[in-house]
Amino acid sequence: HAQGLQVAIDGPASAGKSTVAKIVAQRFSYVYVDTGAMYRTITLVALEAQVDLTNEAQIMNLLQQTQITFRPGEPVQHVFANQTEVTNAIRSETVTNNVSTVAALPQVRSALVKRQQEIAADGGVVMDGRDIGTTVLPNAEVKIFLIASVEQRAERRYLENQAKGITTSLSDLQTEIAERDYKDSHRAVSPLQKAQDAVEIDTTTLTINQVVAKIAQLIDEKLNLTKN
Ligand code: CDP
Ligand code: CDP
Repeated sequence: HAQGLQVAIDGPASAGKSTVAKIVAQRFSYVYVDTGAMYRTITLVALEAQVDLTNEAQIMNLLQQTQITFRPGEPVQHVFANQTEVTNAIRSETVTNNVSTVAALPQVRSALVKRQQEIAADGGVVMDGRDIGTTVLPNAEVKIFLIASVEQRAERRYLENQAKGITTSLSDLQTEIAERDYKDSHRAVSPLQKAQDAVEIDTTTLTINQVVAKIAQLIDEKLNLTKN
């Protein structure tokens, strides 16, 4: 690809995808695309419009009217639905608990997959999600599948909430994460699945820097291969 490699990072909730994807993208001056934020944004828009979350026609109508855009930011990217900033709103518990329902709608998926493919067409992109290596970018040069134990992932979310001043129960978080993993892995259209040619990294006992180093090494190897 003209602008660099396509790097796909998939895995279950709180495996560390967005954190490491963003750092890896910065290191290689690639564009970082958080596809989960796109599913979260249409979920937020649908909740605000008070439409039935299984009414695909209505949700498609809303999606067609919604321009989802990203702008660089620290510590997280800014996300916009048309002119409205939704960076924080898309992380609410309500959105989190409903996003898998909306993300299971086939037409919503194909519309968002198409947008994601357009963004990644020239390469130079790190994209994280659930179906990037399998469906969105099946020819990505680097495919990573991040996993971690559900206990560790709940603990991470717990600490993240605590830092935001939100008190949550660890066991509720475990249940929420396990339920979302189940829904994401069992839906009919492009479920969460490791691509055959993806490299699996278990991040349970790894630091963010260790995960970034492993992925950066895989990218360097591919870049050296394409140079020779
Ligand atoms: O950050 P977290 O792991 O909680 O989730 P996310 O990456 O923000 O994704 C939120 C939800 O969007 C997931 O639980 C999936 O239901 C859906 N999603 C998807 O179906 N396909 C993607 N490529 C990305 C997210
Ligand atoms: O995007 P995804 O839901 O897969 O995970 P994330 O939002 O990047 O990471 C969830 C939390 O785990 C964040 O607070 C990260 O700082 C933390 N994390 C960690 O403690 N150790 C890692 N190896 C990766 C992430």
